[in-house]
Amino acid sequence: MRTIDIFDTTLRDGEQSAGVNLNTVEKIEVAKQLERLGVDVIEAGFPAASKGDFDAVKRIGETIKNSSVTGLARASIRDIDAVWESLKTTAEPRLHVFIATSPIHMTHKLKMTPDQVIEKAVETVKYAKKFFPVVQWSAEDAGRSDLNFLVKIMEKVIDAGASVINLPDTVGYMTPQKYGEMFRFVRENVPNIDGVKLSAHCHDDLGMATANSLAAVENGADQIEGTINGIGERAGNAALEEVAVALRIREDFYSASTRLKLDEIKKTSALVSKLTGMRVPANKAVVGNNAFAHESGIHQDGMLKEKTTYEIITPELIGVNSTRLVLGKHSGRHAFKNKALELGFDLTEEKLKEAFDTFKDLADKKKEIVDDDLFSILTNKQTEIGEDVGFKLERMQVQYGMDNIPTATIELRDENGDLKQLASTGSGSVEAIYNTIESMLPSPSRLLDYKINSVGGGRDALAEVYVRLEYDGDNTSGRGTAQDVLEASARAYLNAVNRMLQQKAAMKEKVAVKAGV
Ligand code: KIV
Ligand code: ZN
Repeated sequence: MRTIDIFDTTLRDGEQSAGVNLNTVEKIEVAKQLERLGVDVIEAGFPAASKGDFDAVKRIGETIKNSSVTGLARASIRDIDAVWESLKTTAEPRLHVFIATSPIHMTHKLKMTPDQVIEKAVETVKYAKKFFPVVQWSAEDAGRSDLNFLVKIMEKVIDAGASVINLPDTVGYMTPQKYGEMFRFVRENVPNIDGVKLSAHCHDDLGMATANSLAAVENGADQIEGTINGIGERAGNAALEEVAVALRIREDFYSASTRLKLDEIKKTSALVSKLTGMRVPANKAVVGNNAFAHESGIHQDGMLKEKTTYEIITPELIGVNSTRLVLGKHSGRHAFKNKALELGFDLTEEKLKEAFDTFKDLADKKKEIVDDDLFSILTNKQTEIGEDVGFKLERMQVQYGMDNIPTATIELRDENGDLKQLASTGSGSVEAIYNTIESMLPSPSRLLDYKINSVGGGRDALAEVYVRLEYDGDNTSGRGTAQDVLEASARAYLNAVNRMLQQKAAMKEKVAVKAGV
């Protein structure tokens, strides 16, 4: 049985999904959960891309102890230096450096000849090897590259010091057979390949990312790259939970396993979905809400007689708990703390107390508190931004009637402690709220996306709203949770604005520190 390394790029390729915008605190929470899941490598970001990315990679490197942390670099000394600066104090600094190798990319994007690409790849890998014990080199768009050219460049970068070679299907063009053949070909033809790990990185443009990743395993890949829930550029990346569960369920066929703790999958999926605002489709393999629902009479009859008639994956395997009712309004702080730890939340005493108060408030209004409610309360607490940043919703009143014009009256407190009050109308209640808030903000703001979800279930379920906005010329996103959909909507909008203000304040602080102010 071979062991396949799992390389998670949720925080890099996944974060490149349109509309996804995680702040550093949220990225750290995702990284901690990926560590609990047991991934071998966490690609924490692209440090040269922005100050925010640099800081997030640095802080993740300082926080994570049981997974290796890596950062992405183009074949450029400046990019490699940025990864080194962000990871140099970690136990095993690891670099992921890439350059495109397909004729299309070399000609049109890089405007370089194949020989120039080889030269650049070798020069940058050699440079990186002076600092990093592990250098992973990727041949971007390997799927559309000439196989003999791949063999040639791989031999050279291995000589230069790369010990992991990744062959991405950057545009999701490959079929399982062709992608598998590419791995077999390089294994058989690169003369110095022994001891080098081969990695697969698939995109899902044709819906084949998981199948292609598994074909790579069949043909000698030692590492699979992907993201939780398959999020990522365009149609996304290979969904790691699908690859890992397929390897477990079809161990008989693949004779390969991973080190993942599969019963952490559902929790990881829920966290990524909540923080990115990217909902998991109900019919999604492994983690969709319907993945274990048997609707038709024939199936239900079969399941009652013998579960294996229609169920190849048990919910327990991925950590779906069948006992869902957890705490009630009489539950004490001790039970709450234990449940939080069981759900993977290790909050400070202060945050735990605040989360407990929120739980008690909710328990007064809601009959049953289930895991999903607690998960939502605890994640919000763990990732909330400081109280002192931005605008706080003090009071809100909304008037709606079929024959009236919806009107929202809102009272906000700004960061200086000043109260503002205003009323505006809209064609619906949410629009009235957003018109009012926008008129009270100091900079122009525009709603780009609005999504609403119920947490848990039942008519008294919590509402969770996710919004994307343009505020003061930049894009931002936010979440709001409340029992009432209108309150959740207002909170989400203010959360998005406050996140942007916090980011800007942090930037200003850094500039001031640098300037010695
Ligand atoms: O898809 C791709 O080619 C990538 C590389 C940067 C590895 O994400
Ligand atoms: Zn990619």
